[in-house]
Amino acid sequence: MCGIVAYVGDLVAGPILFDTLKRLEYRGYDSAGVALKSEGAIVVLKSAGRIADLEKVYQSRGCPGEGMGIGHTRWATHGRPSDRNAHPHTSGEIAIVHNGIIENYLDLRELLTEMGYVFSSETDSEVLAHLIHFYFKGDLYAAVCRALVHVEGSYAVAVLAASSPYLVCARKDSPLVLGKGKTAIYVASDVPALLPYTKDVIRMKDGEIARVFADRVEIMDREGQPRLAQVERITWDADAAEKGGYTHFMLKEIHEQPRAIRETIAGRISEIDGDVRLKLGMSDEEIKGLERVTIIACGTSYHAGMLAKNLFARVAGLPVDVEVASEFLNIQVRPRTLLLGITQSGETADTLLALKKAKTCGGRSLAITNVVGSTVTELVDGTIYTRCGPEIGVAATKTFTSQLVAIILLAIRLGRARAHLTPDQARKMLIELTKLPGLVQRVLEKREEIRKIAERYAGASCYFFIGRDYLYPISLEGALKMKEIAYIPSEGYAGGELKHGPLALITEKTPVVALATCGKKIQSNIKEVRARGAEVIALATEGDPDIAKVASHVIELPQTQPIYSAVLCTVAVQLLSYYTANKLGLPIDKPRNLAKCVTVE
Ligand code: G6P
Repeated sequence: MCGIVAYVGDLVAGPILFDTLKRLEYRGYDSAGVALKSEGAIVVLKSAGRIADLEKVYQSRGCPGEGMGIGHTRWATHGRPSDRNAHPHTSGEIAIVHNGIIENYLDLRELLTEMGYVFSSETDSEVLAHLIHFYFKGDLYAAVCRALVHVEGSYAVAVLAASSPYLVCARKDSPLVLGKGKTAIYVASDVPALLPYTKDVIRMKDGEIARVFADRVEIMDREGQPRLAQVERITWDADAAEKGGYTHFMLKEIHEQPRAIRETIAGRISEIDGDVRLKLGMSDEEIKGLERVTIIACGTSYHAGMLAKNLFARVAGLPVDVEVASEFLNIQVRPRTLLLGITQSGETADTLLALKKAKTCGGRSLAITNVVGSTVTELVDGTIYTRCGPEIGVAATKTFTSQLVAIILLAIRLGRARAHLTPDQARKMLIELTKLPGLVQRVLEKREEIRKIAERYAGASCYFFIGRDYLYPISLEGALKMKEIAYIPSEGYAGGELKHGPLALITEKTPVVALATCGKKIQSNIKEVRARGAEVIALATEGDPDIAKVASHVIELPQTQPIYSAVLCTVAVQLLSYYTANKLGLPIDKPRNLAKCVTVE
């Protein structure tokens, strides 16, 4: 996730900017940069790579700059990590740093190019620098206000102009915090960066734009009316602050899912056309000609692939094979097959090898990944980025739900190109998709209820997760999470398969999590295990009249279409395993024997 910092005060800005940027390192980054006001001009230093290396360049240049500057750590979303794509971006005497996604940047880029602006990066952010420059007639605040009117998407920005006595900051759907020091104002994406300097912070609200001077901040709301800034005193220590006040990164990342999903969707859907915009590197004709899809993945990403199986068949009329990458041995990929690699890191050795092998059979290939410029993106014809920011907890959470959303977007695009889905059907799916972040938020609000259930069964020696259809892969994912972080042997099973063996394992000591938000058939499976004495924790749709009669505990989830209910159930099982592991006092963010990214076969 990108990070922003800024400083206006009585000290030289450079060292403070580098220090605060380093304090945002935990968010992950691939490049960094600063812009400093110096003798009536702006000095920009930026590069791909480590902040510490850039700081050495700054020092070797004699630490230029005065008491005003902006800085950025970039985590690539539009354009690969490179010196050119690093922020700040400049236009004349304007320099900007941006965190977020400008959804209409292509339109704006075209417009600005026609107006004579020359772009030096592939980023969405650079349009902002030129737009502000276009409107700048000496009043930086007015220029930023006018520029932002044209911007669709999310942003936290800090803007510097060589001739302006103040900085301008603005935010919409991306965090930005101001810190009040005695003789300076500090700006950062996150509180931890500010803590060594001040514990008095002002959180900017959505739609607000601020003028930042060394001795004061003037915050204006959406209507341009001044807001009296409320100063909040931070009482956390730096470690807790990095986790945003959460006890673990995993819990923080679980809670980031509404935002992660919004970013995955951003700029990609058109409800009017009933279609999805994705750069797949394939024409509609080619998509029409497809006969199959072969999905290759490992671990949690494999479960995402399994969800695609039923979805692609229904929505795009395409049969799907889902292969565990390490078992992709003598499989012959047939002609007219679309290869799809799913890997959050983009670096999993088994997935890369299997993809390479599969590609020798010809055919088009795509990847779904979270890491821009990762190795998988070099292997394939097109990439769908999940854009959910780096994930620090080893157990995948937000990257998984964002993969599910990317798969849904892809299914709709394939379905529309193949005319298997009407615009109206697609529209209905897309309208519901836009509600998904809000629905996920409502599941997160159930955390206390889920915690109590998790703690009650934390001593179990075996767990079962059962589901059907779209919820079967989620039952596998629920069991994997329970194994990974709570170390409890767990089985994920298709409801209908229980009677073919695993029922022998069910006793009164086996808690069974039944994913029961879609269809009634799962209720007969619940009865089967209840009859063997098992306690059943059912995830059910709000207002389901029958479920309480058969389950021991019911966690009610919002009503939605079955495919989205898979995402809601995922969030609930993530919380269940998190609170189980937490009760057991386990090292949740770094479970034993596991690695976030497995780069060996
Ligand atoms: C490791 C991680 C898992 C992940 C798997 C595949 O085992 O611990 O959380 O699901 O790799 O990773 P990928 O980056 O390919 O999605």
